[in-house]
Parts: sequence; C-alpha cells; structure tokens
Amino acid sequence: MPKSREIHLTKRPSGMPTEGDFALVERDSADAADGEVLVQNLYMSVDPAMRPRLTAGQELNEAMMGGALGRVVQSKSDAFGVGDLVSNRMGFREYFTSDGKGLTKLNPDPDLSLTVHMHALGMTGFTAYGGLLHIGQLKEGEQVFVSTAAGAVGSVAAQIAKIKGCYVVGSTGSEDKARWLRDEVGLDAVIDYKVTPIRKALQEATPKGIDVYFDNVGGDHLEAALRRMNTLGRIAVCGFISGYNSGHSPVSNLSNIIYSRVMLRGFVGTDFMHLYGDFQRDMTGWLKDGRVKYQETILDGIAAAPQALIGLLQGANSGKMLVKLAE
Ligand SMILES: NC(=O)c1ccc[n+]([C@@H]2O[C@H](COP(=O)([O-])OP(=O)(O)OC[C@H]3O[C@@H](n4cnc5c(N)ncnc54)[C@H](OP(=O)(O)O)[C@@H]3O)[C@@H](O)[C@H]2O)c1
Repeated sequence: MPKSREIHLTKRPSGMPTEGDFALVERDSADAADGEVLVQNLYMSVDPAMRPRLTAGQELNEAMMGGALGRVVQSKSDAFGVGDLVSNRMGFREYFTSDGKGLTKLNPDPDLSLTVHMHALGMTGFTAYGGLLHIGQLKEGEQVFVSTAAGAVGSVAAQIAKIKGCYVVGSTGSEDKARWLRDEVGLDAVIDYKVTPIRKALQEATPKGIDVYFDNVGGDHLEAALRRMNTLGRIAVCGFISGYNSGHSPVSNLSNIIYSRVMLRGFVGTDFMHLYGDFQRDMTGWLKDGRVKYQETILDGIAAAPQALIGLLQGANSGKMLVKLAE
C-alpha cells in the first residue's frame, strides 16, 4: 500500500491564488480490490480552467481534479494490465485506485514524446484544431489572430492557421515567447501586449483586418479584435483567461458583430468529437514532419502543483504546463 501525496484546496482565493490556498496532504492509498486497478500518475496537466473551479466547484479540503497520465501498478481488472498507460481526470495526486471508469488506455506513438499526448496530440491540440477549423470555419489564405499564441492551445491554433496558408498574428506576454513565435514558428506578426497596448498593436499588425479570431483571453483582446473584424468574420471563443481571477472581463463594443455580421461562438473540445480521427491523423503527421512545434514547461514533484497553477495564470509557462510526478 503506497503512500500518496495530494493537493487540497484549503481556502478559496480572492484574485490571484497564492500557495497558502493549498495544502500538500499525505494519505495511504488503498490496494486494488477485485475489478480495480491502482494507478501511479506520471504527469499531471495544469489548465487555466482550474481557476474558476477554485471559486466555485472544487470542494475544500479534498484532492483537486485535473487531467493526468498514469501507469497501472496493480491490476485485479480484466480491462487493464500492469504497465498500461492510462489518461485520467485524477491529477493532483500521486496514486489512486479505480474501477476503470474514466480511464482511457493510451498507446503512445513510439516516434513522439510521451508528454505530447497530453497537449498537441491530446485534447489541447484537438481544441485548437476543431476550434479553428470547425467553429472558426477557417479557409485557406485568411487573416487570422490568435491570442496567447505561445500557450498550449494557442500555439497549436496559430500553427494550423499557418499550415492552411493564412496570414497569422499572435499575441503573447513576454519577449522570449514573442521571439519563439517569430523565429521558430514563423508567424507573420507577433504582439507583446505587455509592451504595446493590444488595441494599437493589433491595428498595426492587421492591415487587411481579421477573418478569424481564435480567442483565449476575452476582455481587452476581444475588444481589440472586434474593432478589426472583417465582414462575415468568425470569432471562436475558446477561453477568457483575462477574467478568471476577477470573475469578469468586460467588453464594451460587442455591437460591432452586427455591423460586420460577425459570428461569435463559444465552444468546448467535446463539441466536435466526430473530427477526432482526422485530428489524430493530421497532427501526428504535422508533429513528425516538424510543421507543428511545441514547448513544455515541466515542474517537478506534486508539491510544485500549486506553484505551477499560479505560474500558468501569471504567464510563467511557455507552451504546455505540466507537473512530473514520477519517472
Ligand atoms: N474551450 C475549451 O474546451 C478549452 C480547452 C482548453 C483550454 N481552453 C482555454 O484556452 C486558453 C488557453 O489555455 P491553455 O491551456 O493553452 O493555457 P496557456 O495558454 O498555455 O497558458 C495560459 C496563458 O495565458 C496568458 N495569460 C494569462 N493572463 C492573461 C491576461 N490577463 N491577458 C492575456 N493573456 C493572459 C499567459 O500567457 P502570456 O505570457 O502570453 O500572457 C499564460 O501563459 C484558456 O483561456 C483556457 O481556459 C479552453
């Protein structure tokens, strides 16, 4: 029976969370009973959507939830064998027992890193793929703006738009990330919104307007994009990270969607599961031939999980934020 350490939310944060809102708790993890498996998590995902749940949804003094990738270390189940890799929603803990519900067996591609299945080749990449192609109805050669373009979702969205022959503008919040987008990814224009206000920078970077805005930020970024949308443009609203700490992120010019006949639609990745096979085929190819590049920020050990979440909200990550829990 291994000891398992897990992260609890002990206090609801007001504004930006602090490490004092969380506690590291050690528990005995139960052995697998009949029909069950014991899973050791190897990596856990850290996602912006965890922040709204700290205000409402996440129980206090219980282990937090989140995406993770684990290995079966004991099995009394016919469905899983020892050594199987399983995606699960039981992050923020080292071990857990399961009757198998919510576990998905992963057969990693031997030519790609294991962790890429937790972002570009997982739901993160699929969110970008479907959000851009299905919700945003992207067409070859269009004018595209992607916010948080150096983040996990944004970097995939921006690169798919480049693959589709579009003129792509990306925004980000640091010179290092801006350089990666310019020099490694080859975006047509990159905005560091902490240096030049987004409204002014976007006006200069989009001389032909915007046909598709892939929005990860809301608030001031959405407001700036609404001023630049072309007639019959589409805004795929993926996230609203500028409002996750405060609970609001105002936009004052929504009426622009009328004048420019803009479609503005929110979505979640599960809205277009019928595209998952196409996505896996396309993304596997793009990763293998280097047309999609990625970055990862990996913190070490379960104790670092609160710091990883706070860092993500402050822009400390380049690409996907992960915590490594075991070899
Ligand atoms: N709809 C869905 O199904 C779905 C699924 C996954 C994610 N999402 C959403 O997609 C967005 C990106 O998620 P991700 O996992 O890829 O995270 P990420 O972009 O890898 O990391 C978050 C980034 O947000 C940026 N940021 C933080 N505060 C900001 C602010 N006030 N204004 C502008 N940028 C800010 C920071 O980058 P900078 O240094 O560039 O500021 C930070 O690195 C989030 O809004 C998330 O909620 C939606």
